[in-house]
Amino acid sequence: MTIDVEAVAAKSGESVLSKAEPCVIIIFGATGDLTKRKLMPALCHLARKGELSEASVIIGVDREPIDPDTFRALMQSAVREAKGDQLFDDEEWCQFAQKLDYFACDLKDPDSYAELATRIQDLNGGTLSNRLYYCATPPTLVSSIIDGLGEAKLASEASGWARIIIEKPFGRDLASAQALSDYAAGVFFEHQIYRIDHYLGKETVQNILVFRFGNALFEPVWNRNHINYVEITAAETLGIGYRGGYYEEAGALRDMVTNHMMQLLALIAMEPPIAFDADAVRDNKVQVWRTIKPMTVAEVAAKTVRGQYETGQLEGGKVPGYKEEPNVASDSNTETYVAAEFRIENWRWAGVPFYLRTGKRLARGVTELAVHFKRPPQPLFANRSELIEPNVIVLRIHPNEGIDISFDAKQPGNEMRTANVRMDFRYQQAFNMRIPEAYETLLLDALCGDATLFTRRDGVEAQWRLIDPILEAWRQQPPDSFSKYAAGSEGPKAADELLARNGHQWRLLDTQLQRTHQTGAK
Ligand code: BG6
Repeated sequence: MTIDVEAVAAKSGESVLSKAEPCVIIIFGATGDLTKRKLMPALCHLARKGELSEASVIIGVDREPIDPDTFRALMQSAVREAKGDQLFDDEEWCQFAQKLDYFACDLKDPDSYAELATRIQDLNGGTLSNRLYYCATPPTLVSSIIDGLGEAKLASEASGWARIIIEKPFGRDLASAQALSDYAAGVFFEHQIYRIDHYLGKETVQNILVFRFGNALFEPVWNRNHINYVEITAAETLGIGYRGGYYEEAGALRDMVTNHMMQLLALIAMEPPIAFDADAVRDNKVQVWRTIKPMTVAEVAAKTVRGQYETGQLEGGKVPGYKEEPNVASDSNTETYVAAEFRIENWRWAGVPFYLRTGKRLARGVTELAVHFKRPPQPLFANRSELIEPNVIVLRIHPNEGIDISFDAKQPGNEMRTANVRMDFRYQQAFNMRIPEAYETLLLDALCGDATLFTRRDGVEAQWRLIDPILEAWRQQPPDSFSKYAAGSEGPKAADELLARNGHQWRLLDTQLQRTHQTGAK
């Protein structure tokens, strides 16, 4: 069945549109990759849908000495590339382009910010009005931007709101994350700071809470009495491309676990919030991270696996190993894969392992959460009990966005033979509308002042408290002592052993193999 969301909303008298107040959006790092690939296409979509106020202006700020017309032309080709020629509409672009302005400056130079303030005031007849700052720059520039905004009084909310969006990484460890937050707190109040994690803007990620708390069916079984274990996977076929410089410093643990994976873990495990508002939701997420005990060195050895990809076959071609990628040291010890087992030590989850895995250059790009239920307590179909597959609920974030529930059914025939069958909900089929990109949702939320999908300071710190001991224990291990895996494979063998010790198994990434695996065929 297909649901026409706008028709349903119109019938119930509710609008599906949120609309931002007029404001000036200032993007630092305006000629960079993030602006071109994500921010400009997202803003363009918001304008097209009427969610960006007509009176809003976007000022791109960067050090490239170009004029506003050149900037508009640069953004035009970026948006055309992101949308594809077929969806790009020249008329729509011309309207949107009128909102774009450009200000060339050195982001490290405090004087630049006074000039920027004048530029903003000129746009608003002498007042500052509402401002949204977006730091789409390398992390090393964020403190200069905060300083500059502070010095130029651009963080003031005296004549309109001021909000700043900061991209991850929020530090490299607990100490640097605290230092960054302290720094930002010297200029902005916490309510003005929006730490962005694009996973939270994904429709399918937001749906985790709706699935759990918008239905009465699932929550009563969402606990240790019924759930055996939970798998959270974010597997990519992509390598690190041109990002070697960044990735060498980050590695998979910092790049994916201390944010995206931890957020998924919190959403699947948190208690129902008292309201769907920014503080209530974030309070309960922080509770989850706090309920996990940081690992000891021995636990890190037993419960985490890191790996690095080597040359292999992927999507029909040979791909290089991590150490052969551009800007990567030939003796690099950076992990491109992480698997870990976490335990949430509260009444709901005591005894239930939560397994996380993420990696580059794996067999298939899959982001999903799989909740594995216990077997029925009494094997009624005694002679075939081993064939009864436990129920699994899979929340598919990507691809084939949707939810898959598997259960056993009687196979037609005289014998009491069971077969595992699936109920499959797919977004694309069910809803008659385009799924918004994560950045569209998050930009609109920030413009509307809704911080529910952004990470609060205490959340960032609670995550680092879990990650720091892993980084430290890994540092103590001999270099290059960890597992390697072939590009295009399911990941290191050690990750399979991690689950096998508890009698569990990862779902296979490769669909073909998964089908074979599920039917038990050889
Ligand atoms: C980013 C990481 O935050 O998320 C990248 O830095 C990763 O390394 C990306 O590829 C994955 O995002 P998505 O939306 O493609 O799953």
